Amino acid sequence: MTLRWGVLGLGTISRAIHLPLIARSPGHDLAAVADLDPDRCAELAAAYGARALTPEELFAAGDVDAVLVATPGRHAAHAVTALEAGKHVLAEKPFALSAEEVGAAITVARRTGLHLQVGYMKVHDRSVDVVGAALPELGAVRLVQISVRHPVDAPQVEHLRTAPPAPLPTAAVPLVAADDAAEERALDASVGADTSPALRRLFRSVLCGSVVHELSLLRGLGFGTPEFDHVDLLAWEGGAPPTVFATGRLDGGARFVLDWAWTPDRPDYTETVRITTTAGEVVVDVAPPYRLDATSQVTVTGPDGTHHPPAGADGAFQRQLEAFAAAVSGSAPHPGSAPEGALHDLAALQRIVELAR
Ligand SMILES: NC(=O)c1ccc[n+]([C@@H]2O[C@H](COP(=O)([O-])OP(=O)(O)OC[C@H]3O[C@@H](n4cnc5c(N)ncnc54)[C@H](O)[C@@H]3O)[C@@H](O)[C@H]2O)c1
Repeated sequence: MTLRWGVLGLGTISRAIHLPLIARSPGHDLAAVADLDPDRCAELAAAYGARALTPEELFAAGDVDAVLVATPGRHAAHAVTALEAGKHVLAEKPFALSAEEVGAAITVARRTGLHLQVGYMKVHDRSVDVVGAALPELGAVRLVQISVRHPVDAPQVEHLRTAPPAPLPTAAVPLVAADDAAEERALDASVGADTSPALRRLFRSVLCGSVVHELSLLRGLGFGTPEFDHVDLLAWEGGAPPTVFATGRLDGGARFVLDWAWTPDRPDYTETVRITTTAGEVVVDVAPPYRLDATSQVTVTGPDGTHHPPAGADGAFQRQLEAFAAAVSGSAPHPGSAPEGALHDLAALQRIVELAR
């Protein structure tokens, strides 16, 4: 069976990953694309031999089986529209900014029986399986540390040589304004209307935009969602995000330490997971987000010395797409990218804000 895709939102991640991946993957067909910017839509439709549609036309299209939602902001509302129109949905993170939005989408997915998957691609990374195979030989897990160094996007997408998005056409402005207002209401529901603008920004951009990936990865690795008990926010400078240092407890009792730093001038994004056990350690240098076929590197140190088990040649995004197709065909969905995970994420991220007040 060929899965016919419609991609909604044709910005950086669609151009870096989703469009080329769907276009090259056997069993997948890029049937249509849609964006609020008709010029961008026409350009990418022509480049990929897909139909250029408006978002409304995309949801109604009879030749689209699944919608990939890669609009900015949050994605539960678009997911609901697509599910109600009879489409399976793969929605980028953050799936939503409030539990109410997640709950509404889960309800519709259950009623329609369609597959709804969140773009937590890291849970599909082969390194997760490699770590799972290594840990049982290494005793008890004592400590899990995740360090993220996050630069601005521009150098990360330099290899794509794409122009930054043009301003949206005037006709789209009211729609975007309405969406922004809905986003503020979702933020009120999650962190409270009286939370400072800086903490709201932190929740919206750093926690829901980036740290959410780390939470999904912890779930994928079998550590559950951390119960955070301490947070420091360091070095706020003007509007720049602060360094986030947070600690918590994981399922099984191990300690978790997150350090996330905004490093705007750094050329590369880096993310390292270090799992310390009673008999050694496992370190994962996680693949960067904008490289379609980049793979993570795993280093295992144990009683037999240090080695680097191969973590496959297929990247996390490819395996995410394969997992989606398998679930649509009736296989059990991957639990790590179910929308229920977004509920756990929101609760943990709300706790970080609470501890940071
Ligand atoms: N999985 C990852 O590693 C990863 C990496 C980057 C971005 N993302 C996520 O993907 C999403 C998109 O990010 P991006 O950087 O590509 O954004 P972007 O701003 O580059 O592009 C968004 C596109 O969506 C279009 N758009 C805006 N509102 C729309 C609407 N209502 N209907 C249709 N099109 C609309 C815009 O015109 C633009 O072309 C974000 O939620 C982001 O968090 C995920």
